[in-house]
Amino acid sequence: RAGFVASDCWFISVLFTADIISTVEFNYTGDLLATGDKGGRVVIFQREQETKSRPLSRGEYNVYSTFQSHEPEFDYLKSLEIEEKINKIRWLPQQNAAHFLLSTNDKTIKLWKISERDKRAEGYNLKDEDGRLREPCRVTELRVPTLKPMDLMVEASPRRTFANAHTYHINSISVNSDYATYLSADDLRINLWHLEVTNRSFNIVDIKPANMEELTEVITAAEFHPHHCNVFVYSSSKGTIRLCDMRSSALCDQHSKFFEEPEDPSSRSFFSEIISSISDVKFSHNGRYMMTRDYLSVKVWDLNMENRPVETYQVHEYLRSKLCSLYENDCIFDKFECCWNGSDSTIMTGSYNNFFRTFERSTQRDTTLEASRESSKPRAILKPRKVCTSGKRKKDEITVDSLDFNKKILHTAWHPAENIIAVAATNNLYLFQEKVN
Ligand SMILES: *[C@@H]1O[C@H](CO)[C@@H](O)[C@H](O)[C@H]1NC(C)=O
Ligand SMILES: *[C@@H]1O[C@H](CO)[C@@H](O)[C@H](O)[C@H]1NC(C)=O
Ligand SMILES: *[C@@H]1O[C@H](CO)[C@@H](O)[C@H](O)[C@H]1NC(C)=O
Repeated sequence: RAGFVASDCWFISVLFTADIISTVEFNYTGDLLATGDKGGRVVIFQREQETKSRPLSRGEYNVYSTFQSHEPEFDYLKSLEIEEKINKIRWLPQQNAAHFLLSTNDKTIKLWKISERDKRAEGYNLKDEDGRLREPCRVTELRVPTLKPMDLMVEASPRRTFANAHTYHINSISVNSDYATYLSADDLRINLWHLEVTNRSFNIVDIKPANMEELTEVITAAEFHPHHCNVFVYSSSKGTIRLCDMRSSALCDQHSKFFEEPEDPSSRSFFSEIISSISDVKFSHNGRYMMTRDYLSVKVWDLNMENRPVETYQVHEYLRSKLCSLYENDCIFDKFECCWNGSDSTIMTGSYNNFFRTFERSTQRDTTLEASRESSKPRAILKPRKVCTSGKRKKDEITVDSLDFNKKILHTAWHPAENIIAVAATNNLYLFQEKVN
């Protein structure tokens, strides 16, 4: 539908309260949604099947499985606590009845298998129904075990643990389009893993200077190209993006492309470098573009044009005059993520006061919506919000000074084929869907 207007049409379909949510990710068809939280837990939601009796359940998701992925640990050598918080989750494409996903905290990546069980075997010869071994002398006849139906159980089991390869904090994991390898990135290095091999990884990027006092730049995010398995990008705290080609050399310290927008000298300030740090980078589904998020804006880059982005969208330009207080309360270091919709025609990213923004690329139309409990009456249409930037406040507008900076939307995800979005607002997960008549 051309000219779809995001603002008119969204309503809430699910509200789920949990621990502080640290990542959200749909699987490749969008029927499953995984969230990770500060407590190291992974919660998976499954989409409800639409039925005649419940025709409006189109975008509804229910909890499918919950499991503890990471536990707090202590690094005795460095006397450091390793948080259990899940930094990223990535699904693997489904190949059999089970689902697989990768989850990571600061140091360790785990591969989980999520499978269903609705039958159990009964009538073993050497053990009884409770699993206790029977005394061999009591086994007098040979039985054939049978499968009996039981209530559906969803089990999550750890399959592999990829540990001890990162000295710094892991910020990204990305599954390659060959589906056999994936990368993990920390502040200074990127490693390449084979999904089957846990005791070895290959270092493909290392920007650690020989003398750490010369450190000026860190890696902030990394992602594989959606179709070319030899190409990946990584972004940096200096606002640059490097595209690397693994065919040219094993260690990709020499990038093949370098994307950077020249700085406008007139807007240079003490905060310029901090706010230009890139917090997220995402390839478009078609692989032609990539999108980066910095503190105040989202940019879309054409892979064939390195010297400037093709599109720039201001997320909350009104904060430019507030950078000093945002620096004092540390908000300026918040890491906002960004995402594409299924057709790459609209992008979405978060802001403060539980606001999130969508930008329609062809029309440059932007919308601000709010994820709030107050507006979460079932099926109520979300009202677009507006921040008042001039002197006179109109009705329904909110002033910059009354924005709540503790309420921030860092993580959002867009269903790969439909207008269903997942928005994590601190400890609430909201799912909004488009109203279809
Ligand atoms: C995503 O999850 C759904 C629901 O279980 C499943 O049917 C589908 O195959 C999954 N898609 C992929 C590509 O893994
Ligand atoms: C990794 O483990 C495999 C199988 O146990 C072993 O054959 C291989 O030598 C190990 N590789 C390294 C680098 O330790
Ligand atoms: C986003 O992509 C989906 C799938 O291609 C499309 O149906 C939808 O209309 C797009 N949404 C917006 C807001 O552009």
